[in-house]
Amino acid sequence: MKPKYYITTPLYYPSSKLHIGHAYTTVAVDTMARYKKQRGFDVKFLTGTDEHGQKLERAAQEAGTTPKAYIDEIVNGIKELWPLLDIENDIFIRTTDDYHKAAVQKIFKQLYDQGDIYKSSYEGLYCTPCETFFTELQLKEGNCPDCGRSVEKVQEESYFFKLSKYADRLIKHIEDNPKFIMPVSRRNEMLNNFLRPGLSDLAVSRTSFKWGIPVEFDPGHVIYVWIDALSNYATALGFMSDDDSNYKKYWPADVHVVGKEIIRFHTIIWPIMLMALGAPLPKQIFGHGWLLFDGGKMSKSKGNVVDPNILVNKYGSDAIRYFLMREIVFGQDGNFNNEVLVQRINSDLANDLGNLVSRTGGMIEKYFGGAIPSEQTPTEFDKSLVEMAESTCEKVENHMDKMQFNDALIEIWNLVRRSNKYADETSPWILIKDPDKKSELAAVLYNLSEVIRIVSILISPFMPRTSPAIWAQLNMNDSEILTWDKSKTFGLLPKEVTVSKGAILFPRLDIKKELAELEILGGGEPSASSEPAPKKSKQEGSPAKKEDDGIIAIEDFFKVEMKLGEVIECEHVEGSEKLLKSQIKVGGQMRQILSGIAQFYTPEEMIGKKVALVMNLKPRKMMGHLSEGMVLAAKDDNGNLSLLSVDKAVDSGAEIS
Ligand code: ME8
Ligand code: MG
Repeated sequence: MKPKYYITTPLYYPSSKLHIGHAYTTVAVDTMARYKKQRGFDVKFLTGTDEHGQKLERAAQEAGTTPKAYIDEIVNGIKELWPLLDIENDIFIRTTDDYHKAAVQKIFKQLYDQGDIYKSSYEGLYCTPCETFFTELQLKEGNCPDCGRSVEKVQEESYFFKLSKYADRLIKHIEDNPKFIMPVSRRNEMLNNFLRPGLSDLAVSRTSFKWGIPVEFDPGHVIYVWIDALSNYATALGFMSDDDSNYKKYWPADVHVVGKEIIRFHTIIWPIMLMALGAPLPKQIFGHGWLLFDGGKMSKSKGNVVDPNILVNKYGSDAIRYFLMREIVFGQDGNFNNEVLVQRINSDLANDLGNLVSRTGGMIEKYFGGAIPSEQTPTEFDKSLVEMAESTCEKVENHMDKMQFNDALIEIWNLVRRSNKYADETSPWILIKDPDKKSELAAVLYNLSEVIRIVSILISPFMPRTSPAIWAQLNMNDSEILTWDKSKTFGLLPKEVTVSKGAILFPRLDIKKELAELEILGGGEPSASSEPAPKKSKQEGSPAKKEDDGIIAIEDFFKVEMKLGEVIECEHVEGSEKLLKSQIKVGGQMRQILSGIAQFYTPEEMIGKKVALVMNLKPRKMMGHLSEGMVLAAKDDNGNLSLLSVDKAVDSGAEIS
């Protein structure tokens, strides 16, 4: 019987437009699932959407529709996106699916019946505008630390989950299972920052909103969205349902792949839920890093294309998949921008792999009319090539088993580059001139074809379209020699390789032209399919209290990204009395920002100043100059401006919040 392998992505919130950062998690999991399938595992790959909670309830309200209608449309976009990226998940769960809701209610009930969930009241200091509880210690001069307004003592009835009861057992489990939390740095962070200092019990129900799974025996309460969402990994397999055969077969998960900001939920709340339910714990939780767009997690500016739909349309899913897995070390953060993308595609895909395949096919055609003769004489260069080709698979496996995708690709590309070098060393274009060297020439082209076969197998979990395209071009029809294990042996291809001309795999890109096109495409917000319906305008007299008194939620405040910058250069804008144009250093990046302060500051005064900036303002042109952000200033009643600054020495790039 095949060994099983169960792997999951997190559930995506349908509140956000999915960008290339979300695709990153899913592509990684898909690559791993394909790899395991090829290695003979019976794989289950789960993904889905996390559809409850107050945020979504509100978003739907603002859009003038019901939560379900609001979400359905976004979820449809997500479901269309994954096939575009060749994501082959086995299960797609929505937390609004009936079977899931029923199972979560049973989980909650069982935990309650056995005394691990108890009813109490949440007492705290509550800031109504911010809808947040604070402890005494968190207050700032007795007021809300976020908005500065006064807080009130309130009690909200809530169910609590006894996390504290299981903390020691969890610590022991993490200590005994060094691979439970990966990478190791995240493991230490969880132990030292969260577990060892002690856990408090967790409020696991809410009464202040409705959009959630109701507590069956106390319908005024909805179940906390993380209890709901985390359960999916088991309910998707039928846990707590009439048919739990998949649960019996595939649980525990072999790995939950999640972004680093949610590793805490997955390594503390989820394992404790499972312990309490008497279920086995997942074998591993892998916390990957973020794709950073201009230094931040989300994309907002600079013309970088982050909409996966656009990127796939332009470059094909294999190129995007390759880029994501090759560019970023899995576990660490990495930068995403148009330029690194285009350069990576050009150098690795067009120049290295594409070139290897096209020159090999081209030479077989040109020198032998499309079929390699079987009479072949080895050359002095063959041995090292063959050795490398035969040893690459094992190296790739070692990296893949640790989810070191980029290292696996580096190994494969070492072989690709080595093969291109072999083609140069053996110089077929010289061999062809000597009739006595014909059989050597045949051997060279055979060897190149054989390496291509091996490479095509090893890249297939990463680039599921490119491998079959290669097989078609070199007429590799015998699927027996295209399985994973057959990449370990050199010489399996029949000697008389033939070619069928096909399209260039990865055309060489004109980098300047591509960047210009991407800049235009990236001008707007992420587009199309994952975008919710346009908002209906607010009607007068609607209960939109929030807007009426000018109060915004803390989440809204956090949407504004503010940083400290240092003015490096500054000049007047020609033709304007008010505007100064500054080049501002923010950490490792430079921004050009225009501000209407020329009547209050000279350019000379500005240079060297540390100023407060809004970073994620949509770039706009003023007097023909691009402004990428805003400098903050205070304005008095007479319209005099004074720049905001910090009152201690702080480096540029520091966040303001
Ligand atoms: O967190 N780079 O959903 P989500 C890399 N519903 N990964 C990124 C990223 C970026 N720039 N932006 C987002 C949730 N992600 C919860 C999970 S699981 C039971 C519930 C990743 O839509 C992020 O790290 O906010 C997370 O792993 C995933 O996208 C979903 O994020
Ligand atoms: Mg998130």
